[in-house]
Amino acid sequence: MTKSIYNLQGREFIVVGGGGYIGSHVCKMIDDNSGTPITFDNFSAGHKHAVKWGQYVDVDLRDRKATHAAFQKHKNVKTVIHLASSIEVGIGEKQPAEFYDNNVTGALNLLMAMRETDADRLIFSSTCATYGETTNMPLLETEPQNPFSVYGKTKLAIEGMIQSFHKAYGLNYVTLRYFNASGADDSGEIGEEHNPETHLIPIALEAAAGRRPRMKIFGTDYGTPDGTCIRDYIHVNDIALAHIKSEQAFDNGLSNAEVNIGTGVGISNLEILQTIERVTGKPVPYDAAPRRDGDLTQLYADGTRAKELLEFMPQHSNLENIIKTAWNFHRQKWDL
Ligand code: UFG
Repeated sequence: MTKSIYNLQGREFIVVGGGGYIGSHVCKMIDDNSGTPITFDNFSAGHKHAVKWGQYVDVDLRDRKATHAAFQKHKNVKTVIHLASSIEVGIGEKQPAEFYDNNVTGALNLLMAMRETDADRLIFSSTCATYGETTNMPLLETEPQNPFSVYGKTKLAIEGMIQSFHKAYGLNYVTLRYFNASGADDSGEIGEEHNPETHLIPIALEAAAGRRPRMKIFGTDYGTPDGTCIRDYIHVNDIALAHIKSEQAFDNGLSNAEVNIGTGVGISNLEILQTIERVTGKPVPYDAAPRRDGDLTQLYADGTRAKELLEFMPQHSNLENIIKTAWNFHRQKWDL
């Protein structure tokens, strides 16, 4: 439980995508710190049952008029946290029109609506998928951004728009480039609920629980110690913490920054499965499968800038805790 990191008493936050996996954890942490979250969501991927802190407004960012009206109703809010987007990398390759529309058009409408209110602070959820293929690990924010997935391209386009609004209109922003969000709140009342699920940890937990007979490990011939891909898994409450730290940094005078949010520790797909077997006490049946399109061999963050600019250090992200909390959430959800 992370309580009282920074006193947000008397502050409201518009959390776009507050019904989603990361958004719901952000709302809870705002509430834990005496602030008030206001969720904006169209609930296409998020869940109404995950909005447990503050009110929600059912709004689709692609609808410029409705977005404008929603912001006008909350025109005194200073800080907007924007997490809503299409995220499934594989689907983006097949449906780029929908991805650009939802992510880029939606973000532009949000930025335009913000200009007509008091909101002059934006915390934007970007991704390590905006970087290109590189072997320079840990990844620095200065690494060239040549995303090859549609998903990464949409996020990079939004990063550019935000920078332009900063230069021309004085928008203050922190763009958080998340690595692999994982785990769940200790309470087990919110967690990762994607449909369809494509992420490694929830799929492996389903296999451990016997809810799917077997799973696939995509690629066992990578140039890594055990041949499987390496990622940087950061606990969702550490991601939420980065948002609170961003608000604090604004108060301390930060006006614009792009910041990696990861742990700096690379973990292989097989290490994830082994930890799940240890924590759950159940085997994870899997088959080696061909590489998945678009997967990079390894990705892990350099966290120096996050520490310097946001005073951010992960607190919840040891792998055991990530798996334990994710397992706790799924067991409650599946009634195991
Ligand atoms: N994997 C499997 N089997 C599965 C699912 C995943 O082997 O059933 C592997 C993937 O091939 C990859 C690793 O597990 O090697 C992690 O895959 P995830 O889908 O869990 O996560 P990604 O690293 O692909 O995606 C995450 C975020 C994206 C973001 C991306 C940036 O979910 O939003 O990081 O790399 F774009």
